[in-house]
Amino acid sequence: MAGRSSPVLALAPRYYTDADIFLQEKEKIFFRTWQIAGHVSQVGNPGDYFTFHICDQSLFVMRGMDSQLRAFYNVCKHRAHELLTDQGNTSRIVCPYHAWTYETNGRLQRAPNSENVPGFDPSTICLSDVRLEVFCGYIFVNLDPDAKPMGELFPGVEAEIREFVPAIDDLKLAHAYSAEEKANWKIAVENYNECYHCRVVHKAFTSGVVAGESFDIVPDGYCLRHTARAAQKSAYGYDQGQVDHAQDYKSWFLWPTFSIQVYPGSIVNTYRWWTNSVSRSVIYRQWWLPNGEVTEEQMKVIELDRTQTFAEDLSIIKSVQCGLASRGYNPGPLIIDPAGGVNNELSVSALHNLVVEALGEE
Ligand code: FES
Ligand SMILES: [Fe+2]
Repeated sequence: MAGRSSPVLALAPRYYTDADIFLQEKEKIFFRTWQIAGHVSQVGNPGDYFTFHICDQSLFVMRGMDSQLRAFYNVCKHRAHELLTDQGNTSRIVCPYHAWTYETNGRLQRAPNSENVPGFDPSTICLSDVRLEVFCGYIFVNLDPDAKPMGELFPGVEAEIREFVPAIDDLKLAHAYSAEEKANWKIAVENYNECYHCRVVHKAFTSGVVAGESFDIVPDGYCLRHTARAAQKSAYGYDQGQVDHAQDYKSWFLWPTFSIQVYPGSIVNTYRWWTNSVSRSVIYRQWWLPNGEVTEEQMKVIELDRTQTFAEDLSIIKSVQCGLASRGYNPGPLIIDPAGGVNNELSVSALHNLVVEALGEE
C-alpha cells in the first residue's frame, strides 16, 4: 500500500553467533577503532607502564624516560616473546627470553652477542608502535595507522565532557569491578544503549538515580549521547543536592566499546567492553573520583549500582544470547518512535547500522 512503511528489524542472529562474523569484526571494528587502554594517572612518572589487550593483541602503554606517552605491541622483535606483564616502572625494557634490551622509546639498545653477527645493525630495530591519544585523561589507542583522530570522529564531545565535569583532570580510579559474560559484545553494548527496558528492569536506577521518564539517547555519528534529569528523591540514599543542570545525568558512548557516564552529583563512571570471541565478553566498570577518594555515601551508590543495575543487565544479556540461538526466533521489529524519548530503540538501530557499515555489508 502506498505510503505504508514497515518497522526496522533487529540484526540477524548470526551477527551474534557466527565465529566468521566475529573474525571480520576483529579486523574491521576492533583493529580500526579507538579502544580505551587506561588512564594517565596509571603512567604519571617516566618509566611507568601498563599492559592491556585488544582482542588477542597484547599491547602496552609506557611513559618514556623522555616523559612522552607511547603505545607499543607487546612483542619482542627477536623471536616474539612477550616483553612486559601487568604494570610497573622500568628505565629499559628487557625481554625475558634472550635479554634483548630496548629503550623506553622502543629502540633496540643491545642484543647479547649481536656484535659478532656480520651485518647486524641494532639501530634498524624498533618496537612497533601504535596510535595513542589522551581524551579527558583517558588513554586510547588505535591499531589503524590511518584512523581519523578522535576529535574528528567525536566532534565536540571532549569539550562537552570537560564542561559537565570541570574536575575531570583531578579524577583517579576510585573503585572497579568486572564481570565475564557468555555473550556477544554487541548484546551488552546494545543493552547499555537503550532505556526501553529501564522501566521494566531497573526500578532502582529509574527511581533513585534519574527521573526515568526523562531519559533520552540521541545517536550522532559514532557517539550516542544519553541524558536524563536527576531523580527528585534518591532511593539510593544519596544526597543529589539541588536538582538542577549540574546534577543531571549524562553519558557519552563512544563507538564501539567505551562509555563515560556521569551520575547526578558528578560521580564519573565508565564502561568498557572487551572481547575475543563471538560468544564471550568482559564488562569492566570503573568509578573515577577526585584523587581517587570515595566517600561513604558514594560507596553506597557504587555498591547499589553493582548489586542492582549492573547485575540486572548481566542477567538480561545472558538470556538474550541464549535466545538468539533459538530456532524459534527471527529478528523482531524495533520500537523506533519518531518523537524520541525513553521508550525508543532508535539507538539500537544506529548501532546496527554502524556494525553493518563497518563490515561493509548491505
Ligand atoms: S624473543 Fe626476545 S630476546 Fe629473544
Ligand atoms: Fe540496563
